[in-house]
Amino acid sequence: MSDTNNRVQNPPLAARGAILRLGLLALGAVLLLTLAYHATAARRIAQQHQAMLATLTTLLPPIPHDNVLLDASFIIDPATPRFAQQELLGLSTARTAYLARSADAVSGVILPLETAGYNGPLKLLLGIDANGTITGLRILEQHETAGLGARIELDQSNWLLSFDRRSLDNTPPPLWALKQDGGEFDQFSGATITPRAIVNAVRKALEFFALNRTALLALNLEEPQA
Ligand SMILES: Cc1cc2nc3c(=O)[nH]c(=O)nc-3n(C[C@H](O)[C@H](O)[C@H](O)COP(=O)(O)O)c2cc1C
Repeated sequence: MSDTNNRVQNPPLAARGAILRLGLLALGAVLLLTLAYHATAARRIAQQHQAMLATLTTLLPPIPHDNVLLDASFIIDPATPRFAQQELLGLSTARTAYLARSADAVSGVILPLETAGYNGPLKLLLGIDANGTITGLRILEQHETAGLGARIELDQSNWLLSFDRRSLDNTPPPLWALKQDGGEFDQFSGATITPRAIVNAVRKALEFFALNRTALLALNLEEPQA
């Protein structure tokens, strides 16, 4: 065997040392990154907690509540129906709902809902008081087109606020439609699919609340949840 072949198969000691050092360096870097990730994890969770709490609080301005909303949550899972006509919420995955309590009575609920938008799922949270009146609607996830369907976002228009204080009593079902379809909700020029989907989804969520009002208002989250 030639000397050159020998060098290729058995790298000199110095080269092996360099490879070992590189390996140790890479391992050190991975260790450092893992430590940094874990060190900031608690802060990230606390920030997400605060952001969610802020969103939940904006959903309930008129509802008196003396409980911590994040501690009064329950899961609505399309795979394990627990309420009547749960499919009215349109959920594709299990989502969290929240109860507002005041002096030991349920004063409102925050329900998750979902519908198909123009570009993908629209995931929302709807605040409803104990009488079935909307206290707030917020978007958790949307993929709509900028300048068209994405105008549902509160930083681009006040459209979402047009749901506040509505109920099935003050806005009967036929009026839960865009103005161009004979209803009471504004459309966006060139984009009617997104707003129409949300109007329908919110009406169905109010129907879900009406069907399950007694059960929802009687929920006692101190008991172990199924
Ligand atoms: C590239 C592209 C993106 C669009 N994005 C949206 C959207 O996000 N939301 C929406 O409602 N319509 C969107 N539209 C418009 C719809 O295709 C549809 O024409 C419109 O919603 C109907 O509104 P009109 O009845 O006022 O014409 C988009 C259209 C195109 C070509």
